[in-house]
Amino acid sequence: MDTTRAQVPRFATVTAKAKSTSLEPGQSPSSIAVWSLRPTLFGVSNLGGGLDFGVNMCGIVGYVGYRNATEVLLNGLSKLEYRGYDSAGIAVNVGDHLELRKAAGKLQVLRSQLEEEQKGGFTITGRIGVGHTRWATHGKPNDLNAHPHASEDSKLAVIHNGILENYLSLKAGLLERGHVFLSETDTEVFVHLIEEKYDALPASKDRLELAVRAALKIAEGAYGLVVTHVDHTEIVAARTVSPLVIGVGEKENFLASGVPALLPYTREVIFIHDGEMVIMDENSIRITDLEGQIMDRPVTHIDWSAEDAEKGGFEHYMLKEIYDQVDTLHQTLGGRLHDETGEVMLDLQIDLEKVRDVVFLSMGTANHAGMYGAFMLETLARIPARNELAAEYRYRDPVASEHTLAVIVSQSGESIDTLEGTREAKRKGAQTLGIINSKGSTITREADDTLYIHCGPEIGVASTKAYTSMLAAEALLAIWLGRQRGTLSSEHATHLLTELRRLPRLVEELLERRDAIKAIADEFKSAQDYLFLGRGVNVCTAYEGSLKLKEISYIHAEGYPTSEMKHGPIALIDEKMPVVVIATASKLYDKTISNIQEVKARGGIVIAVANDGDEQIAQIADRVIYVPKVDELISPILNVVPLQLLAYETTVLLGHDVDQPRNLAKSVTVE
Ligand code: G6P
Repeated sequence: MDTTRAQVPRFATVTAKAKSTSLEPGQSPSSIAVWSLRPTLFGVSNLGGGLDFGVNMCGIVGYVGYRNATEVLLNGLSKLEYRGYDSAGIAVNVGDHLELRKAAGKLQVLRSQLEEEQKGGFTITGRIGVGHTRWATHGKPNDLNAHPHASEDSKLAVIHNGILENYLSLKAGLLERGHVFLSETDTEVFVHLIEEKYDALPASKDRLELAVRAALKIAEGAYGLVVTHVDHTEIVAARTVSPLVIGVGEKENFLASGVPALLPYTREVIFIHDGEMVIMDENSIRITDLEGQIMDRPVTHIDWSAEDAEKGGFEHYMLKEIYDQVDTLHQTLGGRLHDETGEVMLDLQIDLEKVRDVVFLSMGTANHAGMYGAFMLETLARIPARNELAAEYRYRDPVASEHTLAVIVSQSGESIDTLEGTREAKRKGAQTLGIINSKGSTITREADDTLYIHCGPEIGVASTKAYTSMLAAEALLAIWLGRQRGTLSSEHATHLLTELRRLPRLVEELLERRDAIKAIADEFKSAQDYLFLGRGVNVCTAYEGSLKLKEISYIHAEGYPTSEMKHGPIALIDEKMPVVVIATASKLYDKTISNIQEVKARGGIVIAVANDGDEQIAQIADRVIYVPKVDELISPILNVVPLQLLAYETTVLLGHDVDQPRNLAKSVTVE
């Protein structure tokens, strides 16, 4: 029997062997899924399945069935809109061609456009379609760059989340072969590539599937890809890194980048793993690997409420966002590392010749990121760099000039003090560069240029994924500047980039140790005070670890450079106060060990954060949180993850509101 073409009965599986499972609120897909081998990205393999943690900023919906596709697509996209909103588009198969509509702005702009057409007597009606909401990475957020992208004859349309890493070289080849590009997107490369492969194949039922597979064989990077062709009743999709999930229906099937889009129609879903393709029509779903081998994937029943679904099945946004870091770090680095030369590619409009000093301006968690940024810039690019609270900077008549580069770090791009700090720096003639998450936010509009961190919406008030992405972006900036200024050797740069590329996999490894951190949280949840100590580049980790704990668990916590301990904090140490010491490999490791001895000599409790294999530390510390070893300069991006989990687990155990801690706001827009 050809199982590949078998009908998919309701609640059944795509193949006879696959099992059905159930996901309940609070249970994440990762806890039940088989992790797959992720194809090489940035030279890193086996990064895990990266199931639908919903990290993607863009939304994808696909439909094949008996309903009006336009309605299903718009409805599904509205459930994903919180992820991306700078343009939206749909492509619907109307029989002899695909009707394509796209509009810059929120989904509502597209909806209004379609309503206007309806008033004029034209309705797009079809049973097969794909839709997208975009948060721009390559190319400005305008109508032209909006997805779907279609072939010139409107027969083929593609939507794509993620970043096609080798799009420049692929595009060059396609241009040479006479293809004409209309947009600035990497996605359009997929259109031409698939079209070329399609045209080269003989007519057959499998032609679209074979063309997509052939194109994917030469595509490198991250993608959630959905392809529709006017002559085919099936939609072909594929994923690597960017999430895709199938919604199983009766005489209809759905595809989406996140479960929320499916819930109005079905609760039976199939999570697609990395390196897999989906070939789906109204009656059948086939999942294969890139070689065409059939893959077994279970149908999972989703019990989540709509809100749970937005949390990707995690109990809290904060936990989801901690797990998101596996993918968000990818996204921050994605498209910015040249695979062949090992160089950082940042297209920044800064007059480097002019820059003689750098000041980082920000508030809260972003200020801890600024601390790292200043350290990295000074170390690698040899420019005097300092970190300041924007609120203090703006009122103290700071010294700045046209030779100053002010780096503005902000998740929201809206914090009032950070914005005013930006304005003050500009008034003084400084060049301003934002390191920002929110597209189109005020600071991105006012700063001379922006280096986006691309980590998707962060909902939990306590910042997690934005922090690690800020650090990753700053590391890229420092390496880029170091290379531009000739202060960083190509060997050292290559080494640091290799270390950065390892991060997603290492974060994933760390997250698997969550239970060990939970046990520590449980043991010390009744503490009145905590002290966090770190040295050198990890001072920011101590500050951020203490902020995370105090802001959500309400346990009083202080962060200090380990070197300062003897100048004050040591007076507080007693047998009741846990002291978290960052003791990962560093030039100052031996000094840190001496500091740990000093804490122990005063009866203190030491929780060390140390590298895997460090047995010495287990002899002196009371508890050890082991983390994988990376270069010291990159280690703060990894070392903070267990501290985020420590804060999270402590807060859950104490029964406080994790996502909305008392008195705090996600973005402080009033003084
Ligand atoms: C508030 C938030 C913090 C955040 C800070 C700066 O205090 O609670 O989590 O770090 O603002 O926000 P920004 O959006 O500028 O990064």
